[in-house]
Amino acid sequence: MCGIIGYVGGGTDGDKDGTASDGGGETVGDIVHRGLTNLEYRGYDSAGVALVGATSGLTVAKRSGEVDALTVPDVPDATHGVGHTRWSTHGPPTDANAHPHTDCVGDVAVVHNGIVENYETLKRELSAHECTSDTDTEVIPHLIEDELVADPDADLLAAVQRVEDRLEGSYAICAVREGDDQIVVARRGSPLVLGRGADATFVASDVTAFLEHTRDVTYLEDGDVAALSADGVAIVADGEVVDRGTETVTWEADAAEKGGYDHYMRKEIHEQPEALRQTLAGRLDTTSGDVDLDVSFPPGFLADVEEIQIVACGTSNYAGRYAAQLFEELSGVRATVEIASEYAFGAGRSPDRTLVVAVTQSGETADTLGAVRRANAAGARTVAVTNTLGSTVTREVDNTAFIRAGPEIGVAATKTFASQVATLAMLAVAVGRDRGALGAAAARSVLADLQGLPGAVQQVLDEEPQVREAAQEYQDSEAFFFVGRALGVPVALEGALKLKEISYDHAEGFAAGELKHGPLALVTPATPVVAVLTAGARADETMNNVTEAQTRGAPALGCVSADDEYDTLDVSFDVPEVGVLEPLVANVYLQLFAYHVANEKGRPIDKPRNLAKSVTVE
Ligand code: AGP
Repeated sequence: MCGIIGYVGGGTDGDKDGTASDGGGETVGDIVHRGLTNLEYRGYDSAGVALVGATSGLTVAKRSGEVDALTVPDVPDATHGVGHTRWSTHGPPTDANAHPHTDCVGDVAVVHNGIVENYETLKRELSAHECTSDTDTEVIPHLIEDELVADPDADLLAAVQRVEDRLEGSYAICAVREGDDQIVVARRGSPLVLGRGADATFVASDVTAFLEHTRDVTYLEDGDVAALSADGVAIVADGEVVDRGTETVTWEADAAEKGGYDHYMRKEIHEQPEALRQTLAGRLDTTSGDVDLDVSFPPGFLADVEEIQIVACGTSNYAGRYAAQLFEELSGVRATVEIASEYAFGAGRSPDRTLVVAVTQSGETADTLGAVRRANAAGARTVAVTNTLGSTVTREVDNTAFIRAGPEIGVAATKTFASQVATLAMLAVAVGRDRGALGAAAARSVLADLQGLPGAVQQVLDEEPQVREAAQEYQDSEAFFFVGRALGVPVALEGALKLKEISYDHAEGFAAGELKHGPLALVTPATPVVAVLTAGARADETMNNVTEAQTRGAPALGCVSADDEYDTLDVSFDVPEVGVLEPLVANVYLQLFAYHVANEKGRPIDKPRNLAKSVTVE
């Protein structure tokens, strides 16, 4: 995810107090630059700074690539500045798309995290302005410019407050202006935390950025707008000045990078509600039932398409297996899933009537790229579903749908699985609507379930203590079998993969009906069966298979729809009602279960042995 740092305090030149709270002998540019370095762990593809000098005005420097490659301008009279690490969501990682973005005259600079959902509408309204990037962010400085022209007496705080009323979406903003000695910030949906130094104030996406300067922090709340000066902070909410209090951070930098979590994986599991909100932002039209994924097809292509072939590896393959069922149900097109390394464009298929969907978080997986190349060579139309702008796969396909989950650092994929399935579900709705196979009412119902996803996932995350307890109870089992039917099958496969990957325990996932065709021979009281018993997963039939295992003494754990109950389960996890997305929500329990089993065993969860985050060899 993008990272923000802001600092106001004038830097220190050695003859001030030189305490840690104000940076100790550094310029504003140095402090902002090091803040960017501290944010690098979040993942990014571009970086930039804006510095404001007492007499030299506003100076901006930005570029794609690493923070180290960014030359921070020498502005000796700088009093304050902002910096940004960008993880691309709108437009590729180019110099022009890097933040900060400025207004037409170069007086105002803005850095931003999150998504301005109505940026296209706003851009049209700003037709008199010169926009120079592909980003949603760029509308903000131009809107501020308009406000300042309309009311020359307005200060930056007033202008940002008015602009905020026009923005839709979730975001965190920092704005600076030539001739203004404050940084103005606003938060709605994306985190912002203030650092309170003795004679300096910081703002950042997380405390890691400024932890070396101060541990006294104020967490802004949604809807807050604040003006930051060296002397302190004025926070306004609903037109009133408010006091958000100050807390002292006790974490060390390493823990702070992980937001206080012990591992990136757990952090990323907990980021899923926010990641899903970003995945969905601005893409659903709940009135018409339509979806805008910014993926276009030649006229008539979807009407004639005969087959959707999904190619992917590992967790992405399981996301594809989930989606294949949705494609068939929602778009009426036959959908198949291939392990990318096994994919060949089969004989008897017509390439011009085939859509190949490559699902890859990294966009760099060699096996998936190989499959895309084989599909391209056969003449099929290709779409990538990926998290990574500018990745190799995006350059090799006809279209890309970005999942917008933010960077995932833990080797075990978690939040990207959820965002992949949500993106593919949207694609299935889009294809179904285009083909006339999915009526508006049915589409609206799927979109409502999608909108319910972040909240449903949050409810599951709130049950983490129950999952930890189950993990502690069953951690010493000989093996674990994950079962489900229909949409429960890919989730069972994913649950088993997650557990084996990070705990090194033997785990297998399969269709529940297969239990009696072989695996039942392995079932004993030392092999728990974990079942997906939700909507979309043929719960009653699956429960019959679970009972077969229980008869052989196996403990049974189930993820059960909130409106259902299976009394004989040893552990029952409640899954909120979200229709065909319930198995996806159940998967969050399985992620937490894998995490806590591995954690109890002291495994190196973020970097399991023998595995890499991005597998770039075939
Ligand atoms: C999942 O936890 C693994 N890290 C792995 O299976 C991964 O999903 C697979 O290597 C595919 O990666 P990709 O999505 O980047 O293509």
